[in-house]
Parts: sequence; C-alpha cells; structure tokens
Amino acid sequence: MRVRYLGWIAVLAVTLPATFPLFAASKSLRPTQPWMDKSLPAEQRANLLLQAMTLDEKITMVHGMDPRPNNEYAGYVPPNPRLSIPALKLADGRAGVGNHATDVTLLPAPIAAAASWDTALMHRYGQVLGNEEWGKGTNVALGPTIDVVRVPEWGRTFETFGEDPYFNAQMAVAEIHGIQSQGPIADANMYLTMNQENNRFKENSIVDPRTLHEIYLPPFEAAVEQGHVGTVMCAYIKTNGVYSCENQYLLKDFLKGRLGFSGWVMSDWGATHSTVASAKNGLDQEMGGGTYYSQALKAAVENGQVSMATLNEHVRRILVTMFRFGLFDKDQSGSWTTDVRTAEHAAFSREAAEQGSALLKNEHGLLPLSNASSIAVIGAAGDLKPKAQGGGSSTVVASYIVTPLQGIRKRVADDTRVSYADGSDLAHAIAVARTVRVAIVFVNTDEGEGRDRPNLELPGNQDQLISAVASANPNTIVVLNTGGPVLMPWIGKIRGLIEAWYPGQEDGNAIAAILYGDVDPSGKLPLTFPRTATEIPTATRQQWPGIDGNSTYSEKLDVGYRWYDANNVRPLFPFGYGLSYTTFKLSQFSVTPKKIDWATNPSNNINAELEVTNVGKRPGAEVVEVYVAQPEKNGEPPRQLRAFSKVFLQPGESKHVTLALNKRSFSIYDSTAHAWKFPDGTYKILVGTSSRDLPLQSTVVISSSPVSH
Ligand code: BGC
Repeated sequence: MRVRYLGWIAVLAVTLPATFPLFAASKSLRPTQPWMDKSLPAEQRANLLLQAMTLDEKITMVHGMDPRPNNEYAGYVPPNPRLSIPALKLADGRAGVGNHATDVTLLPAPIAAAASWDTALMHRYGQVLGNEEWGKGTNVALGPTIDVVRVPEWGRTFETFGEDPYFNAQMAVAEIHGIQSQGPIADANMYLTMNQENNRFKENSIVDPRTLHEIYLPPFEAAVEQGHVGTVMCAYIKTNGVYSCENQYLLKDFLKGRLGFSGWVMSDWGATHSTVASAKNGLDQEMGGGTYYSQALKAAVENGQVSMATLNEHVRRILVTMFRFGLFDKDQSGSWTTDVRTAEHAAFSREAAEQGSALLKNEHGLLPLSNASSIAVIGAAGDLKPKAQGGGSSTVVASYIVTPLQGIRKRVADDTRVSYADGSDLAHAIAVARTVRVAIVFVNTDEGEGRDRPNLELPGNQDQLISAVASANPNTIVVLNTGGPVLMPWIGKIRGLIEAWYPGQEDGNAIAAILYGDVDPSGKLPLTFPRTATEIPTATRQQWPGIDGNSTYSEKLDVGYRWYDANNVRPLFPFGYGLSYTTFKLSQFSVTPKKIDWATNPSNNINAELEVTNVGKRPGAEVVEVYVAQPEKNGEPPRQLRAFSKVFLQPGESKHVTLALNKRSFSIYDSTAHAWKFPDGTYKILVGTSSRDLPLQSTVVISSSPVSH
C-alpha cells in the first residue's frame, strides 16, 4: 500500500509541473532541478540550466576567481549551490600535478615520453596524470602542450612533443584520451603559434595561411576531432597582428566553425586583452582572474555591446562540457591535500624515462656497461643537482628524485667501483676520470617558461668539462639532461651519448637501467639536433626572437627536419634518430594499392607493409617511420612523416607491420580555396628508422579523377 502511494507521488511530481506550470512552484511537488536529470543529453541539460541563471551567475562562470581559495589549483570558478553547479578546479599538469601540489608523481618531461614514439605509452602517461589530477580534486587538467617546436631555443620545448605536426597530433590524441579517461577535462594548449617565450606577452607571429594549416594547426585539429578534448587554451602571443584570445579566424571560424569544437576556450593566464572583441570573437572564459570578463563584461551585456545571446553561448559551452564529462553527476572525493601517489605511478615514471631515452652514439660497443667496470659519475646533474624537470607552470613538487649516482650505485651494488666529481673543479674531474675505466658526464640545460635559451650551447663550463674528461679518459659517455637540442663541439671526442631529457623522479634508476642494458634504449629524437648554431631553420633575427615585436615565419613549411632536407643541410642527429643495443632488419616491403583514385575511393587507405626482425641478441624495440615525398609541383618540403609504429621484439622474433596512409597524408592546403587539395601525381613512400635513413622506397599514383586501366 505504502509503495503504491509513493509511486503515485513520483508520477505526479514528474507530470504535473509539465502539464500545469502552477504545480512547479509548489515546493513539495517540485521535481529535482530538471538539468540534474542524467538521462537527458548534455546540450539539453545545459539549456535548461542556462534558463535558470541570472546575469551575475552567468558572469561568474566565464572567469576565474581571484584570489583563489587557499591559493590552491591554478584557476578556480566557485560552485553555485542554488543551481547545483560544481566548482571548476583547473590545475597545471604537463609532467604531473603542478601549482605547488605535494604528494604527487613527477613524470619525465612530455618531450621524453614523446621520444618513446609509443602512443600506447603516451596514453598511459595521460592516464597517470589524469588520475592524480582527479585525485587532487582537479576537474580541468591544463595539458598537454601540443605546439609544434619551431625555434630550437624555445624555453618550453621540453613541455611539447617536438617538431612534427603529424607526430604531435598522434601524441596529443593519445595523452588527451588518457587524461580524460580518468575524469578530468583535458586542455589543448597553447593555441596558436606559441613558439617562443621571449616577449611572449606581445610578440606577433607573421605566418602565411598555408603554413598555419599544414604545420601549426594539425595537432589542435586532431585534439578536437580525434581526441575530443574538452577545452582549448588560447595563447599569449599574436598571430598575424591579432591576439590569440580575440582572434576571430582562429577561435570562431576555424576552431568552432570548421572543426566543430564544442568545448570551451579559456585564455592563458593574463592572455585576455579585451572584453567586447574577445566575447564577440570566441573567447569563452577568462583565466586566471576576471579583468575583462567580470564587471566589464556584465556592463557590456547591459549596455548592449555584447549581446545576451553571445554571453549565453559562452556559458552554454562551459556547461555542456561539464555535463558531458559528468561533473554534475560524479562524486569527486579527492582534494588538494590528498596523497595521490602510487607504486604503479612511480614505476610508470621510470618506464617512461627509460623508453624515452635515446642512444645517439655508441662506439666500440662501450654500452651497455659491464657490471665489473669501474666508473666515474661526473657533473652537477649526476648527483649534486639532478635535472629532473623544466621550469615554469609545469613545475611539479617532486617527493623524491633518485640521482644518477644513487641509481647507478644501487644498480652495481658496490659503492667502491663508482666515484663522483660534481664538475665544478675541472682538475678534480680529470683526476677522478683517470682512475676509472668509464667516465660518464651528466650535463644539462636550464629551460623554463618565460624565457628562451640564449643560444644552443650548454650553459656554464659544461663543454670544457666534457672535453677535459674526454681527454683524460677515452671511454667517455655523455648523458644529456636537456629539453631540446644542444651544440656538441666535443662530439668527436666521446664514445657514448644518451639523450635522457628531463627524466622525472626516477632519473637515476632509469639511466642506470639504460647504461647497464637492463632495458634497450629505444627512444628516438622528436626534433632535429643541429650541427652548428647557424645551420638551423630559424637562424635570422627576423625569425627569432623577432624584430620590433614581429617574428616572421619566413621558413614557411620548412620547420624542423623539413628545413634540413630542403636545404641539404646535414644535421648532427636527425629527427627520428636513435640507436639500440640490438639490430633490426626491415624486409618484405610493399605498398598497396599502387594506384588510387580519391574520386571513387575517398576513404580507402594506402597500406605500407613490412617485416621487422630483431636479428641481434637482446630484446629491443624499433620504430618504423613512414614518410611521403610529394611531387615537386606541389611545393611541399622533400618528405614528411605520415605514419609510425613502435615494435617490441625478442631476439630472432619478426613482426609484420602495417602502416596506413589516408587521403590527408597526400594533401596540401590551398589558401586561396581555403581547403585541402589532393593533387594528382606520383608520390614516393619512404620507410626506415629515421628521417635520414629511409632505405625502403616505393611509389603510389594518386588521381582525383577516375584512373584509366
Ligand atoms: C602558462 C600556462 C599555464 C598557466 C596557469 C601560464 O603562465 O602559460 O601554460 O597553464 O600559466 O598556471
């Protein structure tokens, strides 16, 4: 009887208010707030909620609160209990939870994880990061940084995935999926042409539309279309005279229009420069505070400069995304003080550092080291001042850092065979190097947000240190802890070289595993290492750091390895390069079909297939890279990465690898037609293990009109 009575109440509560609006006002019979009905689509819930919001409540949603409660997170939008809107808590997250959070895991820098060339590893990187962000109460994780590295001195290179648009797009999608699988909304940043730190609040990037579409936009396009990223951060810098956060073409026409991005755009912290222009041109939310989007925006709406419809659209995007990610429905119990570390996260941090380490030189089979060798660890980064991460908003409070000396001592389990010199005193370093069989010099750069490196040299006395040690001991190995390329005047004097990047909290354990061969070094460079300071794509002052506030992208499409190839310049270490302790053979290469007609088969793939065999004696991994060389008439760089795959193989093992190329792999952007074009012609498919080692070659004939057989 009682059950039946309650059932009737429920039916009336739902049907009466809809049928007779009068009932809706009656509290006892009012159903829960209609937008809290989980069965409704996110758009409908957002629209229902929007109708219930006052102007002040809408304004609250479109800017960050300043100051933030307890100074936690990087950005904060307060909850609205009246309407059941949860708070938005935005925290930095490139190599772990940032903003001074404690009890978190410091991962290797994103460039290190990207150097694994393993999208599955990058997905797990996102999962670990997303999991710790969510555990800290964060619901918007500010990362990944997906800009293409144009200037090798760029201070935030370590935060990115490198210099190739396709590669960055793949990594971006993998990491975004990883982050968002754990609860938080990810944030693709920094949109767009954020390619230098010097004068970053005012600099203007002058870049032609074809370059914009072929080089700088693809990672963002993939983040939206394949990654389904929830937010995008517009950058400090201007593109073609217009600030990113009020750039109609970039925000409204391209991102929201052409790509159909349905999430919200937030400004970088302090990157909003106007109220009306920003609101009209597509900026949804000002971060970190509300200089332009609080009182000023309210006044602009009241006096008609910004329409209510425009404001509603900004709020609606935020709400739709919050509903879509379940922020109204999920119970997020973690807070800023929760300890989110786990043994699995620490193990992953180590694995990512190992998998990203790139072996660049190994003469006389010096590596891997034998356990019995006496060794010297030399350099500040070897112990005194380990260089585990870059600086700026990505900084993570590490709970610990295993230094290289600690990791190596633990690995060899015999302290007496491992000596140390911090490198500050050259004579001491030389003396120590003379007493051992192998000297390992750890050198580093100091990179961070807000400033570019002044040049590509190793800072301080590190070049002299390496030369002095190498003169004292022929078995000298250099380990680079850098976020990007450095010049190596001493390269001919050393026998071994490893790029270990900024390796995170497991620094010493990871490098010990690589040095002693417990793990095969299988990382590859996601950016080119130049031979000289001048033979780089952006060597003129007009290009970088710019003149009178303008950085001219005169290298156009020739970014990174594209420039070296186009200008026949031999880099020191090419894009995609990295050695292994084992040997691989690539064979049985084929490309099918040999002819394709996009007019009749627009969605067909072209498959490059081959067999990869580990013909050496150790387990290891090889990355197969596929480049497309377009017909000369297309006016493209000589060859461009269009597919890759990392293959793990036991000694003697073979695997068949199929790499799919699609229509877009053979496209150019036509800036007159504002569209992608797929010109007819013969395209070369080049396959190998670095951008400069492509022994397998074939062709495919493309036509956009029916092929005559
Ligand atoms: C950085 C962003 C960061 C923000 C919040 C800015 O200085 O450019 O990447 O997310 O600060 O900390």
